[in-house]
Amino acid sequence: MNESFKKKILCIGAGYVGGPTMAMIAHKCPQYKVTVVDINPDRINEWNSENLPIYEPGLYEIVKSSRGKNLFFHTDVKKGIQESDIIFVSVNTPTKTFGVGAGMAADLQYWEKTARQILECSQSPKIIVEKSTLPVKTALAMERILSSADSGIHFEVLSNPEFLAEGTAVKDLENPDRVLIGSSLTESGLKARDELVEIYENWVPRKQIITSNIWSSELSKLVANAFLAQRISSINAISDLCEKTDADVSEVANAIGMDSRIGDRFLKASVGFGGSCFKKDILNLVYLCRNYGLTEVADYWESVVRINEYQKKRFVLNMLKAMFNTLADKKICLLGFAFKADTGDTRETPALYIANKLLEENAKLVISDPKALKNAKKDLKEAKGDISYVEDPYQAAKGCHAIAILTEWALYTELDYRKIYDSMEKPAFLFDGRNIVSHQEIYEIGFNVYPIGKPALKHF
Ligand code: UDX
Ligand code: ADP
Repeated sequence: MNESFKKKILCIGAGYVGGPTMAMIAHKCPQYKVTVVDINPDRINEWNSENLPIYEPGLYEIVKSSRGKNLFFHTDVKKGIQESDIIFVSVNTPTKTFGVGAGMAADLQYWEKTARQILECSQSPKIIVEKSTLPVKTALAMERILSSADSGIHFEVLSNPEFLAEGTAVKDLENPDRVLIGSSLTESGLKARDELVEIYENWVPRKQIITSNIWSSELSKLVANAFLAQRISSINAISDLCEKTDADVSEVANAIGMDSRIGDRFLKASVGFGGSCFKKDILNLVYLCRNYGLTEVADYWESVVRINEYQKKRFVLNMLKAMFNTLADKKICLLGFAFKADTGDTRETPALYIANKLLEENAKLVISDPKALKNAKKDLKEAKGDISYVEDPYQAAKGCHAIAILTEWALYTELDYRKIYDSMEKPAFLFDGRNIVSHQEIYEIGFNVYPIGKPALKHF
């Protein structure tokens, strides 16, 4: 193996963030050796196979171009730590489910274990880069753990939050709006920061690599996600009003989005936001505010999550009401289970909430998704009721009373809805939780159509 690499980079945690980010660094920087380790051997085996553990457009191509050359996936965390100069930490930091802060604070157990393992295995100084989204001041805690043993080894902790979105990870990593690096402002902190800047400079223009103090960096990640989620909750709140007033939320979004101060992105009303970040990060922010006694600030941000819960609930209630207040024994086809298009990820997907609520009404579910059925089956493993999983949307909709579009997969805009209508029970209903199909055309086929934030089109 070529050991003359200029730098040896390790990433601990081969998930949605660690895997693609390291693949991009390896792809752009053949002069560096990039190793990704994970405690989960199945995940590592998948990263070493043709079936990567996550679906991301373009990811397989960049993994394949570097794997075995300067990109390696394995489970030997200890060896990985010993060999590296720079360690990215991207282990999971879910919301705590127990004890103080349960349901709000971040669960830092995986993260702290990693810090201790770095300390235990290191034989030389290292730069540690926080990639996982973490509460503000976590870097400080990590620094304390790392300097707790009197090993004489210096560790410099940097914060470098990842802003990629799933489904567009490769594009986002290749052309990021910005790369943010937080460091302490000491001489060694600034030196470490410059080393990380140098890595990104291989493909990101210098003016887009911004630096800050470490706490601003940690907080910026939480705030970016909170602002994005807030836009969705804002437009979703307006969608409810539109349904009551016969206004059209797309027209409203278009009109306000043309104001350059508001901007037109992230204004799509939907069945609610999902994904592993938004809810978790807002709750994290809320917990932080409460911790500092900022009750009003905490309540303000918490309302973003409350509106999101309300949007999901309201979607199911609308279905129930439209279908004559009973769903018992009715077959309902869910088109899409992933939390957004172009990913197989179902973490916090609105589809799970909706599926469970429909099952409570004794509806029979047929779930369809081009990439997320494996995860859907896992998510609904404990659920009681009649559920089937059918990838082909035509087969899935056959004999159903209603279709609910829950993920904005492009393929659902191109289906032959006449063919689907002919195969369904009548009256046939379509609930468009993503506003992606042509409602007038679908209505003219014969469907009763219920979009988000627009008047329903009904035949009765
Ligand atoms: C988000 C942030 O965008 C990203 O910067 C951060 O690093 C991680 O969290 P992600 O959760 O992967 O990324 O996807 P995103 O595109 O932000 O979508 C999140 C949710 O919001 C999805 O459920 C999506 O369907 C929904 N959404 C998005 C809307 O309902 N309407 C919109 O206009 C945009
Ligand atoms: P994210 O979306 O933040 O990338 P994921 O859950 O997809 O989160 O990935 C986190 C990964 O970190 C998982 O594959 C998990 O097995 C791994 N992991 C957790 N703790 C450790 C650890 N101590 N050492 C190595 N890997 C770990």
